Amino acid sequence: MNLTLYVWRQKNAADEGDFVHYEARDINLDMSFLEMLDVVNEELIAKGEDPIAFDHDCREGICGMCGFVINGIAHGPQRGTTVCQLHMRHFKDGDTLYLEPWRAKAFAVIKDLVVDRSAFDRIIQAGGFISVSTGGAPEANALPVPKEDAELAMDAAECIGCGACVAACPNASAMLFTAAKVSHLALLPQGQPERYQRVLTMVAWMEQEGFGSCTNIGECEAACPKEISLAFIARLNRDYIKASIIQRRQLSRKS
Ligand code: SF4
Ligand code: FES
Repeated sequence: MNLTLYVWRQKNAADEGDFVHYEARDINLDMSFLEMLDVVNEELIAKGEDPIAFDHDCREGICGMCGFVINGIAHGPQRGTTVCQLHMRHFKDGDTLYLEPWRAKAFAVIKDLVVDRSAFDRIIQAGGFISVSTGGAPEANALPVPKEDAELAMDAAECIGCGACVAACPNASAMLFTAAKVSHLALLPQGQPERYQRVLTMVAWMEQEGFGSCTNIGECEAACPKEISLAFIARLNRDYIKASIIQRRQLSRKS
């Protein structure tokens, strides 16, 4: 198959950037989208031109490194799929594709399709962990967890931190990501001691990083390659309200 590509090329965060036209020729239908870009890049390198920069690592849909916008859709047209797991058989010969980086104030463009997602790392550093050593894997029944909670925690833990939710949201909100990270710990016994402090610090840090507010549009859930549910945002909001009440009570007791 042959494709016409318009790829966003931008040297760095200060550069204005623009779409550049490329032709992708003799693309195998079994290739992944990133392998198709590898073919284009090999041609560019052979001609002495700068290859298109894009993020990737595992290419198995589990690390969260890949991600850009294809024809206006984060991770492309295949629902529940990272761009590294998107295959060329989902496109038609002669298609024209526009590739752009995630667009969000908190995700500055590093180069071409690569953005700086370290704001996500800083939200995790603000509280997305358990600050005591939980030791090795315990015996299975030593700490009983209701099956429903265990499954929900696993659903939330599927978030790979790719940033598609932010890119798809008209407010560039990081609520789905933060909600997934807050929830997977809030659902398990080990996450309880710091549960309410965690939600306050992670939400405060999310706002400090310049992400927008959630207005329940739902584009994040639609774009998420791991199909993280909006219900986790509701769960975060409930914990946040409870945490605020606890904090107010503690302050009034001190005064
Ligand atoms: S919630 Fe989904 S879209 Fe957002 S970072 Fe996690 S995996 Fe990516
Ligand atoms: S490269 Fe790891 S999820 Fe796509």
